Amino acid sequence: MELHPALAVLAPLVGRWRGEGRGEYPTIEPFTYGEEATFAHVGKPFLAYTQRTWSLDTGAPLHAEAGYWRAGGDGRIEVTLSHPFGAVEVLVGTMAGGRLHLASQAVVTTPTAKRIDAIERDIDFDGDVLRYRIRMAAVGEPMTHHLAAELSRSS
Ligand code: HEM
Repeated sequence: MELHPALAVLAPLVGRWRGEGRGEYPTIEPFTYGEEATFAHVGKPFLAYTQRTWSLDTGAPLHAEAGYWRAGGDGRIEVTLSHPFGAVEVLVGTMAGGRLHLASQAVVTTPTAKRIDAIERDIDFDGDVLRYRIRMAAVGEPMTHHLAAELSRSS
């Protein structure tokens, strides 16, 4: 099926990805994780995204997230994401020079979720390798690095 023309700017994301990352935050112990992510399309102007992670120490499931990636024209990207810890994220950003920079426009949390005020995601593309970094302002901390990972396209 042909990718919707509006998604041309997101074409480098389409496929299945697998790799490893490292997480940290001033309030937690650093950790390493494995990750699998899929960006799929059905010919409409959005990519459907799912991701899951697991501890490299124990194999136990860690974070997972799912959502939709849209392209608004002029390199502008819009993303909605849902998290199992009771948060949803709306991000907007731009693709320029092989780097996608996204910043949260809104983060909404459920009554029992931890406090998350803002999130920033940078994704760099280099052929079949994707590297990302995620920062967040959460649990009373200012915008601070949380995650860095490198994934390779597996199909
Ligand atoms: C690759 C994806 C991610 C992994 C592997 C991951 C892993 C972890 C781990 C292991 C912890 C410490 C234990 C815990 O509190 O559960 C943690 C804490 C946390 N993470 Fe993540 N996380 C990921 C993505 C995210 C994202 C996207 C957000 C924000 C939307 C986020 C927000 C938080 C918050 C708020 C905490 C609590 C910090 C604290 O209690 O001091 N995480 N994460």
